[in-house]
Amino acid sequence: MMESLKFPKNFYFGAATSAHQVEGGNKNDWSEWENETAEIRLNNSSMEEIPDYLLSRHPSPLERDNYISGKACDHYFRFRQDFDLAKELGHNAHRFSIEWSRIEPEEGKWNGMEMDHYRYVIEALLERGMEPFLTVNHFTVPVWFRKIGGWKNKKSVEYFSRFVKKIAPYFKDGVKFWITINEPNIYVLKSYYKGKWPPNEQSFWSCLGVMKNLIRAHARAYEIIKEARSDSQIGIAQNVSFFEPYGNKIINRALKKIADKYWNYYFWDKTLKYHDFLGLNFYFYNRISYGFNKNSNKTVSDMRWEMKPDAVYNVLVDLANRYDKPVYITENGLADALDKRRQNFIEETLGHVSKAAEDGVDIRGYFHWSLMDNFEWDKGFWPRFGLIEIDYKTLERKIRPSAYVYKRIIEASK
Ligand code: BGC
Repeated sequence: MMESLKFPKNFYFGAATSAHQVEGGNKNDWSEWENETAEIRLNNSSMEEIPDYLLSRHPSPLERDNYISGKACDHYFRFRQDFDLAKELGHNAHRFSIEWSRIEPEEGKWNGMEMDHYRYVIEALLERGMEPFLTVNHFTVPVWFRKIGGWKNKKSVEYFSRFVKKIAPYFKDGVKFWITINEPNIYVLKSYYKGKWPPNEQSFWSCLGVMKNLIRAHARAYEIIKEARSDSQIGIAQNVSFFEPYGNKIINRALKKIADKYWNYYFWDKTLKYHDFLGLNFYFYNRISYGFNKNSNKTVSDMRWEMKPDAVYNVLVDLANRYDKPVYITENGLADALDKRRQNFIEETLGHVSKAAEDGVDIRGYFHWSLMDNFEWDKGFWPRFGLIEIDYKTLERKIRPSAYVYKRIIEASK
């Protein structure tokens, strides 16, 4: 066992989830799209390098069920039980998202029971001594919103603001920490550039338009939430890659600057005064050179993403050099069904987070992705990101050994 790590006072340790990935029973743009495209994705699965040991699990990537979120983890009905487990694992905070399509299933029609549902979720966290970090929009949108063109429509900002106006006063008493939008850069890339996620577009102009509206939507939401609760802390969760200039060559250093500016920092730079903190989702490391990606890929996750936990230190230092704002790691984790690499990954990552804090970075929290296995978007259920394993046949929860490693780090830091 490693020696105990030091973290700043009142550091938040927790895990993250998002509504559509865990709740089950959602009716939104994703659930529609999942049904329409399941066969295509099932047929394409043979082209992916999926580890053999995942092919025999349920639901297997070779079955249609894998691609439909359906009941997911049934977290909508089991959230109290799940929060009991998080508490048992020593967490003092939890990041989750609310599902817009439940609260406003039809344009301008509000479902009070669903609003109450999330109030119970918040209360359940507070009762267990866990600070709620509420994400307002984590990728999914209501079907009516999709039909009017989603985030491409200029009026999207108005509709989103109206939603925030409804929920901010309702949840303000229990929620101090707000994340307006999850990973605008990933959303635009996957949905409007690569066309892999709904609405499957590949248009540079759509990317620009959607990004512009997300930026305006965030700024407006910030003002509305502040109005509801002046001491609230508001940010976004941004997917930041660590770009390492390959061979430290001048040209590669210049490329890193460009990649940082447009991929990592663009949203923050455009909206800086509307962020009380920087929410950092950290997964990716790229050795940058003319041809991009010269990663060694020696250690990869089940999804073939290169594991480089020490790079979190570089990202944190880069952020501290560029901005004068506290940082929360709002997501970080790996798909590892056999739980072979997660233990090490957590120890190393938190070791480097602790080092960054000692070196002066204002880092205030860490949320592991994810509390439990869940629906990994277009890939479906096979990637297993959870500290808690889900048996999708019985919906039984089983704590993975790495979750106890995380717990020991949390406890030793007190
Ligand atoms: C997203 C999560 C996702 C995770 C792992 C992040 O990009 O916010 O919803 O499950 O990464 O891919």
